[in-house]
Amino acid sequence: MRIVFRQADGDEIVADGAPGERLLHVGQRHGLPLEGTCEGELACATCHVIVDADDFARLPPAREEEEDMLDLAYGATRTSRLSCQIVLDETLAGLRVTVPR
Ligand code: FES
Repeated sequence: MRIVFRQADGDEIVADGAPGERLLHVGQRHGLPLEGTCEGELACATCHVIVDADDFARLPPAREEEEDMLDLAYGATRTSRLSCQIVLDETLAGLRVTVPR
């Protein structure tokens, strides 16, 4: 399924993700600067993305542990999420996110 990553400079990368795949890994596979240092253990926030406002409600709500890490993420906004916690399924086709600087 198609996922659109917008980079900090405004360039967009249209990525291909599979159901069951984490958004973090889709971004990494397409060369986006998502470090994912803790490999999804909710200990780093280097996988932070900002979800387009129109798409935010399509995602399952963040768990408390994710919210806590987002409080530490640089430049976090109301629609920020940790991409390691987003597992793709068909309902997320066409998702648009920005990778902050
Ligand atoms: S990879 Fe560390 S919190 Fe997502």
